[in-house]
Amino acid sequence: KYGALGLVGGYGLSRLPALAQPSFPQPRALEVLRADGVVEAQITARQSNLTLSGRPARLMTYGGFPGPTLRLREGETVRLNFTNNLPEATNLHLHGLHVPASVDDPLALVQPGESRLYEFTVPRGSAGTYWYHPHVHGRVAPQLYAGLAGLLVVEGPLDALPELKGAEEHVLVLKDWAFSGDRIPAWTPMDWMNGREGNLLTVNAAVRPTLRAQKATLRLRLLNASNARYYRLALENHPLYLIATDGGLLEKPVELSELLLAPGERAEVLVRLSRPGNHRLQALPYDRGAMMTHGGTNGMMGDQGMGQGMGQGMGQGMGMMDHGGMGGMGDTGMMGPMPVMGPTRLETLLTVVAPASPKPLPLPASLAPVERLEPARAAATRRLVLGERMAQAEFFINDRMFDPGRVDIRAKLGTLEVWELVNKTDMDHPFHLHTYPFQVLSRGGKPAPYRAWKDTVNLRKDETVRIAVPLRDFGGVTVYHCHLVEHEDRGMMGVLEVR
Ligand code: C2O
Ligand code: CU
Repeated sequence: KYGALGLVGGYGLSRLPALAQPSFPQPRALEVLRADGVVEAQITARQSNLTLSGRPARLMTYGGFPGPTLRLREGETVRLNFTNNLPEATNLHLHGLHVPASVDDPLALVQPGESRLYEFTVPRGSAGTYWYHPHVHGRVAPQLYAGLAGLLVVEGPLDALPELKGAEEHVLVLKDWAFSGDRIPAWTPMDWMNGREGNLLTVNAAVRPTLRAQKATLRLRLLNASNARYYRLALENHPLYLIATDGGLLEKPVELSELLLAPGERAEVLVRLSRPGNHRLQALPYDRGAMMTHGGTNGMMGDQGMGQGMGQGMGQGMGMMDHGGMGGMGDTGMMGPMPVMGPTRLETLLTVVAPASPKPLPLPASLAPVERLEPARAAATRRLVLGERMAQAEFFINDRMFDPGRVDIRAKLGTLEVWELVNKTDMDHPFHLHTYPFQVLSRGGKPAPYRAWKDTVNLRKDETVRIAVPLRDFGGVTVYHCHLVEHEDRGMMGVLEVR
């Protein structure tokens, strides 16, 4: 059955703005070979010429953006072959999966033309939403920004709960972009300081698409795949029921009026469409403390950052001037590839069209038991202080920039640790730990409102967050870092050795 909009779209009448809403695309599923509990799959990184919001874009992807979704089941053995067909070194990080650091090794590079086999077992109880992306120190920001990201979904027995199974499932990969013509411009010093944002906001690479729901209960798997943009999400007329965080399902749904998704974070929400009609999924204004690059600039950067950014201005831009946080730059008549930083504005990301007489499913009364960690039995309490030297775009943890040859934390396998994360800078940083999922114990002294597995937690300016980190199952050398990936590239990363 073709809706009227589909036909109009098909005939290319895209100048009619009211009819130009693209329908809601889903990333394709990665093809896998599955036999006797073993899954084989191939992921290839390559240069890709895509059409993004109707314009040509030269990207680097895993075969389209978002990359194909890898769906795995708890307990399976996975043989994932990765091939690098890019002209530069890259690698693959299985963000959030509790697999040995020797497999998911952020320091092992795959050179152009080479392949690497990632072989691991999907942990029991890990059902949830993860993702894969490159991890080449110094190049994560340009490679991720260029489109190297895909979802990894782990399915488990609880997905069979009728309240989950009966829901209409969609993945939403949130990503912003900026182009100069069809290219992504080189990084300016300002980008390295603030992290690069872009004025073109996409959900699964579509600008303000429309999701026509067939059912009244939606299960949305959300990923913030942006380098630096935060999304404070709210759906008009409807609460969001959080059912899973980075590391899987919660004990029961948590009703939220809004959900903050920092770079690298995932969440799963149930939406119970209670009224017919259109409901906008919006990103509410959020101030992550990025330095203003126009008007309010304090001059620390000199003119260098601005000069490069503005010099590559693209005149007519992407035609997205109306909703990109352009601020003062718009009235100069120039649209640099780099937007004005500072607080974001209200943006519409997606329109959800509810069925005519929606009858949502009841909420699941209980989901997965989440283990209660006992911080009283912690083997160590450590303090990790995030710091910066903004003018140089240098970022630290405990006063030191990343050095792959130095171990920053030595810890004992099989112990539970408590880490106190302290943000002494003027902007938010999403802190991410590889290999070992953790639980947030408290934020600013207040106990966490519910137990949840996380791998990335946002730290506001001056905030202290305490996390419980069980170092279990396998030792090795792994890393923790800021997932505002420019900061990772510029030093905000450390090495953890577990033996
Ligand atoms: Cu998603 Cu070390 O990163
Ligand atoms: Cu940071």
